[in-house]
Amino acid sequence: MSNILLIKNKIKKFDKKIIISGDKSISIRWVLLASQALGKSKAYNLLMSEDVLAALEAIKKLGIKVLIHKNHCEIYGKGINNFKYKNGLVIDAKNSGTLGRLILGLLVKSPRKIKIIGDKSLSKRDFLRVTVPLKKFGAKFYYKVIGRLPLSIQGSQSLSGINYIENKGSAQCKSTIMLAALNASGTTYIKAKKSRNHSELLFKYLKIPIKIRKTKKFDFIYVKKPNKIEAFNYKIPGDISSSAFFMVMTTLANDSKLLIKNVNINPSRVGVVSILKKMGSQISLKNQRNYKGEKISDILIKSSKNLKAINCPTELNSSAIDEFLVIFLVAAKAKGISYFKDLSELNQKESPRLIWGSKILNMMGIKTNLTKNSIKIYGQPNLEIKKPIIVKNYLKDHRVFMMSTIAALTLGGKWKIHDKDSINTSFPSFLKTVKDIDHSSI
Ligand code: S3P
Repeated sequence: MSNILLIKNKIKKFDKKIIISGDKSISIRWVLLASQALGKSKAYNLLMSEDVLAALEAIKKLGIKVLIHKNHCEIYGKGINNFKYKNGLVIDAKNSGTLGRLILGLLVKSPRKIKIIGDKSLSKRDFLRVTVPLKKFGAKFYYKVIGRLPLSIQGSQSLSGINYIENKGSAQCKSTIMLAALNASGTTYIKAKKSRNHSELLFKYLKIPIKIRKTKKFDFIYVKKPNKIEAFNYKIPGDISSSAFFMVMTTLANDSKLLIKNVNINPSRVGVVSILKKMGSQISLKNQRNYKGEKISDILIKSSKNLKAINCPTELNSSAIDEFLVIFLVAAKAKGISYFKDLSELNQKESPRLIWGSKILNMMGIKTNLTKNSIKIYGQPNLEIKKPIIVKNYLKDHRVFMMSTIAALTLGGKWKIHDKDSINTSFPSFLKTVKDIDHSSI
């Protein structure tokens, strides 16, 4: 089957209800924490994407039993750092920064060397951001190229808590240190710039000793080693980052309406909703409820005609970090010049997304001003793409592929989008969901 998606027609008017697959961040955290619990943990609606399957494969290699059933997944944890593995173990984190980084936190006490590898994209990404603080616990790292995969970790037996300042707003860095703290005596203290807090909520739910003091910009987190972690069951809510593609599709479509059921709306993830609303998108959160510390809701979106440019407040950056590419499409159709700044972290993702976002907008005929950490987008409310567009996404970034698909389905033009299989990283049912909305569209 061809790995290229051709799109020639815009999506037709729709009024639909959809369900989105499980949240990727929570799925990976469930896998890693269930591997540290004692006994059988079950997850329903676990995201069955390559990133999460790689996490399951990783803990299996570390001697943990995993069973995948039709409707749920079971992990038979053996307690904190109770891994059994052969000499020369290699763990493949594939495309997943979350797995590649967080697993190092779990391995901080493992006595024998373990090698972590990843795909071409992950091998270009920075690992010093986690290995530097993990060294403070006593772990040793061996690299071919400093700070990059492949790398090997060798843990230390006597670990004591560290003080760590996380100032990039990276949940991966914060969570890696929190996982390492499960092995360390004393208290680990983290001053973290705001970022998604699924790890903190899971730690609280699992009764792992954790205290958090919040200020406007930073969270001060204190973690102590628990005696044990009880096995736990979890129903993973829908992923807001995957939902974002359909929020934008509906916003830009003609006279359409979409209800997305059961989406995680953790306040540290809903930046996309705030940004789209500020730009004139009609979005409302229905039937809000709580689940084990997380917030869940149905999201109703209606098409919007009068979209306006945004000078995006930087406080929203971290809570929308995975959604900017698709948000840029709304800016392309908005009246005025949108400005997104302080976003150097966007170039640290699966591909340099600030650069890629700008490239795709330029191909669409939209003017941009790009710097190392910001982009200005000159919106065209009457934008109607006429020319053919080819998107070759050499690092196979799933979100570049999905952003391009949404652009093609809402803004016109003839699109040839490469690397269809990249969706398997985070959202294998993406194209099926598009077809469920309009079966004739792709
Ligand atoms: C994630 C954190 C974010 C996000 C990534 C998932 C996580 O990365 O972009 O997709 O699950 O912790 P950073 O920690 O690098 O900001």
